[in-house]
Amino acid sequence: MPRLNHSPRPGASLTVLGIETSCDETAAAVVRISQGAPTEVLSSVVLSQIDEHAPFGGVVPEIAARAHVQTIGSVVTKALRDAEVGAVELDGVAATAGPGLVGGVMVGLSFAKGLCLALDLPLVAVNHLEGHAVSARLSEDAPYPFLLLLVSGGHCQLLEVAGIGAYRRLGSTIDDAAGEAFDKIGGALGLAYPAGPALERLAAGGNPARFPLPRALLGRAGCDFSFSGLKTAAARIAESLASDAERRDLAAAAQSAIARQLADRTARAVDIYLLSHTPEQRRLVVAGGVAANGVVRAALQDLATSRGFTFLAPPLAYCTDNGAMIALAGAERLAVGLIDDLDVVARPRWPLDAEAARLAPTHLPGRKGAKA
Ligand code: KG4
Ligand code: ZN
Repeated sequence: MPRLNHSPRPGASLTVLGIETSCDETAAAVVRISQGAPTEVLSSVVLSQIDEHAPFGGVVPEIAARAHVQTIGSVVTKALRDAEVGAVELDGVAATAGPGLVGGVMVGLSFAKGLCLALDLPLVAVNHLEGHAVSARLSEDAPYPFLLLLVSGGHCQLLEVAGIGAYRRLGSTIDDAAGEAFDKIGGALGLAYPAGPALERLAAGGNPARFPLPRALLGRAGCDFSFSGLKTAAARIAESLASDAERRDLAAAAQSAIARQLADRTARAVDIYLLSHTPEQRRLVVAGGVAANGVVRAALQDLATSRGFTFLAPPLAYCTDNGAMIALAGAERLAVGLIDDLDVVARPRWPLDAEAARLAPTHLPGRKGAKA
């Protein structure tokens, strides 16, 4: 449990090192927040392991953990050097403590603990999803509260974000995440993992109407998502395709079906959000790797415009996993005095809204508790 530090530092400028190792990117960044001033990203280093996992068609946890061990030292050193910030100028160290591949999470979290011990700095254990939740605030004027669509390779959920650490989950996927659907359908079309960006390129100029795909949950009540039927149907069609034109059309159809579902469920969340928020608080934020997709962004932008919402999306570099979003979440926690003890453990599962996850687990709880 985070504990309340006795010296919250509202008003002061805070410089925080953030470390991210929950999946297949070893990342570190230095971020500074100051009252009344825009967030400064002083450095952001992201070292991708994609080439090491590509032959296996997905992320191999053991390979990921070993690669994080090998590169974490140089990635953190480069982040500090790029930022031209000495270790003594840091106010704290933030590291992803879950959810994710626990071997990798342990590498970054242990490294952060070592730094905190050596430099006598406070540690902030950050939920990776909270990093995505604040990512738009790295570059945009995105005051709290806002409605958040978090769409990545491992997660797909709609949340009301009232402030740092204050989340209410409105909906979540009942099977696969949207990024997983992009990756699996792309894989069936012969694209290398992670296939989302390549599928978007393939789909350019394709005819999305050529292949009708299942319209799961479309128009249904609630804000939950489902992508497994679409994924299976598209992958099956992919097997029978002969020409590049057909592959292009299927990619376009899958992309448009995913974007349509994301916008449809978000429209329902907009209705719920409006019940308890003022017109001035109409802000829709999208975050996570899938937020890099142009068709998804356009669908959400249209929705936001039609409902009078400001639409905020981080630049592509902050959509996919990075250290800056972890540093910012850490800085915002530090500013209100929330820090963690050095015996905090890595958590493979860690829902942002624990109560919603307990009441309506989207993944059965299992021994380790609700997943997301
Ligand atoms: O947020 P992220 O880097 O990692 C997780 O926390 O999961 O998201 C990675 C996911 C992958 O599934 C990847 O295929 C997808 O984001 N992605 C995209 C695009 N760029 C990344 N999906 C569709 N279109 C894109 N341009
Ligand atoms: Zn992520």
